[in-house]
Amino acid sequence: MQRPGPFSSLYGRVLAPLPGRAGGAASGGGGSSWGVPGSHVQPPGCEQSGVLGGASRTNTNGGEASSVLPGASTMSKAEEAKKLASRAAVENHVKNNQVLGIGSGSTIVHAVQRIAERVKQENLNLVCIPTSFQARQLILQYGLTLSDLDRHPEIDLAIDGADEVDADLNLIKGGGGCLTQEKIVAGYASRFIVIADFRKDSKNLGDQWHKGIPIEVIPMAYVPVSRAVIQKFGGVVELRMAVNKAGPVVTDNGNFILDWKFDRVHKWSEVNTAIKMIPGVVDTGLFINMAERVYFGMQDGSVNMKEKPFS
Ligand code: 5RP
Repeated sequence: MQRPGPFSSLYGRVLAPLPGRAGGAASGGGGSSWGVPGSHVQPPGCEQSGVLGGASRTNTNGGEASSVLPGASTMSKAEEAKKLASRAAVENHVKNNQVLGIGSGSTIVHAVQRIAERVKQENLNLVCIPTSFQARQLILQYGLTLSDLDRHPEIDLAIDGADEVDADLNLIKGGGGCLTQEKIVAGYASRFIVIADFRKDSKNLGDQWHKGIPIEVIPMAYVPVSRAVIQKFGGVVELRMAVNKAGPVVTDNGNFILDWKFDRVHKWSEVNTAIKMIPGVVDTGLFINMAERVYFGMQDGSVNMKEKPFS
């Protein structure tokens, strides 16, 4: 088991003396694009969609969009916090000769930037497994070595963002619709490290993330799956709709996404298992007992690291 590195402090707030703090192109100078450097093309498949029947939104960032748009200073603080968390995680966990799982979203862009810097500076030999089309593009654009689970079925370390993290380090993921591949990659990784900004740190799931739990479904089953989830667990289920396309969001796997807006705190492990058993469900955005550590970038420029007591 790898020992804590220089940023580590169990449940502690750690000031991150990060080298090379200048932001990379993909951060868009404090923006929150999921894009890649030199590209104005929004990665497909990981697009955050509008809510069916709800107010339309123009923000395509999986972690940013909300019904109440935060002010500009909160946004830039959040972006800076993503960068701090990402860089702390990369400093602490990325080592030579690793197979890395590369997550999806806006936070992971900062991690990939730092990984690419370290590969150049330290001549690291790394192989990267993407969790989405967006991650694949990031890996290629930053000149990292792209591979897949056929050639590298064992991953040393997966790094990914999250939409919300509870006190037990259970996660909601899939705000960008990439949950299934993200769970596969995290599930086959020896270590799964999460990077997030301060807005994702909650006591209970649903405290701050109000867009529900994403569920990837086979398209022909989206109506019966929706009905089954409501019947078993209550709440509201919405088919996630695309923004710049008529109709639903279609995932990188050719499926639909349901967003289940739950109305109370559940026993998430049981709920996750039960939903996965519903015919037509591919996977859920509940990542139960998977994250070993979470690095939260904080508003004051520090990094708060939380980890499972047993790890
Ligand atoms: C995509 C995800 C992302 O990791 C999650 O939405 C967090 O995104 P961001 O880093 O943009 O806040 O699960 O499916």
